[in-house]
Amino acid sequence: MKKKIAILGSTGSIGKTTLEIVKKNKNDFKITLLTTNKNIKEILKQSKEFDVKNIIVSNFFYFQKIKKINKNKNLKIYNSFDSLRKILKNKIDYTMCAISGIEGLKPTFDIIKFTKNIGIANKESIICGWSFINKEIKKNKTNFIPIDSEHFSIWSLVKNDIHKINQIILTASGGPFLNKSKKFINKVKPIDALKHPNWSMGKKISVDSATMMNKVFEVIEAKKIFNLNQNKFKILIHPKSYIHAIVKYENGLIKMLAHDTNMNIPIFNFLYHDRSNKIKSNPINLSLLNNLSLFKPSVKMFPSLKVLNKLLNHETLYETILISINDELVKLFLNNKINFNDISLYLLKIIKIKEFKKYIYKRPINIKEILKTMSFSKKLTNKYVRIKNA
Ligand SMILES: NC(=O)c1ccc[n+]([C@@H]2O[C@H](COP(=O)([O-])OP(=O)(O)OC[C@H]3O[C@@H](n4cnc5c(N)ncnc54)[C@H](OP(=O)(O)O)[C@@H]3O)[C@@H](O)[C@H]2O)c1
Repeated sequence: MKKKIAILGSTGSIGKTTLEIVKKNKNDFKITLLTTNKNIKEILKQSKEFDVKNIIVSNFFYFQKIKKINKNKNLKIYNSFDSLRKILKNKIDYTMCAISGIEGLKPTFDIIKFTKNIGIANKESIICGWSFINKEIKKNKTNFIPIDSEHFSIWSLVKNDIHKINQIILTASGGPFLNKSKKFINKVKPIDALKHPNWSMGKKISVDSATMMNKVFEVIEAKKIFNLNQNKFKILIHPKSYIHAIVKYENGLIKMLAHDTNMNIPIFNFLYHDRSNKIKSNPINLSLLNNLSLFKPSVKMFPSLKVLNKLLNHETLYETILISINDELVKLFLNNKINFNDISLYLLKIIKIKEFKKYIYKRPINIKEILKTMSFSKKLTNKYVRIKNA
């Protein structure tokens, strides 16, 4: 029987990769729901190709626009995730959460009760609201699998052995500017930051990779998912990006997980974690395996890493503030309003401002409070940034 699947953020990089896998295995899946923020042209194309009956367009302007242009009478178009109860009458089999940003938190939380398995790529929702997501997952007996490649690798390696872990290494490619001078980096354009040496990803995460902020986020994400102290995690630069995680056990064993730099692999393994299927993949790459080359990142080259020293082990609103400031700064860089180096300079400055101090220890009460903190932090960030001359 075909498994029912929903893809949140189907017009993005992870969403499209998930659709590619579904396309190659059409007899195994029936798509029940696709969602986008604004990309109505793409979602109409997707809903036609995969014969999807329900879509959500979150942005109200584009929701009204699509309602006017849609000619498919069988397609139901919604504007909000509050309609999930109407759309998903029975529990579906899989949900892929691939919305970008903290905006993905509420949709991710809301869909948990309607799905048997949930794959979460949206790291921001895990970082800011894991305690709420985890509680909802347990309450509804939903099976959770992390999709971010490092976390998927750790999950694959440790399964039930989490209490026996001595150390976990998250690898980082170092991004497109590894070993380049500060002077060079300060002149780079958004298009240069988007040219990741090994991965093809959405714009925001590509810039986060170049600043190493993505790895900071991944450490926070990992300590929450695996419920481990931050001091268990270490970041190592591995420019070849063949190994995604290394786990050292208390008994002296060290396990590593390697796969091609392609999000197809974690997504495919999520969709087939409970039944078998084959994926077309490259043979073992010996030139990548020989001389793996792993080394410590330099804080001088990647100042964003300093943020890790400021974090507590429990969930606080400080993490939401961190994500929100970074989000705004990346947006400003992508719009050519600040230089690349300004992203980490401003981040380290703004995170210390007095308005944020009281949030260092404050646990979020609910998702509404997280979203309120996000809006307030984004506004404040813009107040502190000086836009460069054109
Ligand atoms: N790409 C990767 O290889 C990768 C790897 C690991 C983890 N992740 C994580 O996975 C998530 C998605 O990444 P991505 O690279 O696929 O991002 P992306 O290409 O930017 O796609 C984001 C998706 O979310 C939708 N979206 C954005 N803002 C929204 C909002 N306010 N409300 C509703 N929908 C919204 C977008 O719709 P529009 O098309 O209308 O903008 C799009 O469908 C991120 O959290 C990222 O950190 C990505």
